[in-house]
Amino acid sequence: MNFPHYPVMSREVLDIFAGTRKRLFVDCTLGMGGHCRLILFAFSGARVIAIDQDGQSLARARENLREFGRRIRFHQGDFLSLFDDFDCEHPPVSGILVDPGISTAQLKDPRRGFSHSVDGPLDMRKDSGSGPTAAEVLNSLSEDELADLFSRYGEVASSRRLAKAIIEKRLFSPWKSTVQLRRLIEELFGWRPRPGRVHPAAQVFQALRIFVNRELEGLEAWLERLPSSLPSGCRVVFLTYHSLEDRVVKRMFRQLQRQGRAALLPPFPARPRGDEIEENLASRSAKLRALEVA
Ligand SMILES: C[S@@+](CC[C@H](N)C(=O)[O-])C[C@H]1O[C@@H](n2cnc3c(N)ncnc32)[C@H](O)[C@@H]1O
Repeated sequence: MNFPHYPVMSREVLDIFAGTRKRLFVDCTLGMGGHCRLILFAFSGARVIAIDQDGQSLARARENLREFGRRIRFHQGDFLSLFDDFDCEHPPVSGILVDPGISTAQLKDPRRGFSHSVDGPLDMRKDSGSGPTAAEVLNSLSEDELADLFSRYGEVASSRRLAKAIIEKRLFSPWKSTVQLRRLIEELFGWRPRPGRVHPAAQVFQALRIFVNRELEGLEAWLERLPSSLPSGCRVVFLTYHSLEDRVVKRMFRQLQRQGRAALLPPFPARPRGDEIEENLASRSAKLRALEVA
């Protein structure tokens, strides 16, 4: 069985969904199917619409979730198209889960180029059939554009210096691999590993991934549509792993509450428990925010 992904804050997610009609859920970011499996086990009468933009993840999740048969409807696509692709009021959706970012399987796969610690092509596309790769971005953007990308999406302090070095290097040979980029960052920032220090390539890789997959584009507009596209009582759970995404979710959820179109579900935000972080260190940056449509 393909089951390397540990579903983050799953107990909290199930507690929130237990307060719904428990009939139909949408898992917007299926990954390896960890949360989806737990939802189907916990709520025996429920069905799930399972979405992922990555065809490879979807294929593996299909395998993992085979035992649930027709209780799952799989769909490859961007969850930002959910309200265009599905009518969530007929039949009424009870709950929606969004757990974006990348799965451990995607991170560890050398062919995908998401990790600075695994040698591979600088690809980083979640939907490998669409848009430019990270290498194409590094080989085509201007110095100003690259500096803006690193500072905006990775909050990289020396973004200008890094952009300049990337342009200089590509004059001699084009950007191709994850390790090539990691080495430049280590050289430029004088990296010396020490316990507890985060590798400076982490922020740069995050920035590139967000840019390549346009992770923040359209998110605000999608959140704004929640109350008008979902039935009253539907609960929406959003997990975030970096402050840029979290800021958008926090602001929009608060705005919907102020407008009387939704109620925030406390605590706002919830964080993983200590024992979960101990078991799965990758969960430490997670924040869970949830609301119920008015
Ligand atoms: C952190 S994993 C989800 C893990 C899943 N909850 C589980 O328990 O196995 C994130 C998944 O969301 C997918 N994803 C990220 N952004 C997406 C988007 N905008 N639309 C559809 N899928 C997306 C990624 O391809 C990846 O498979």
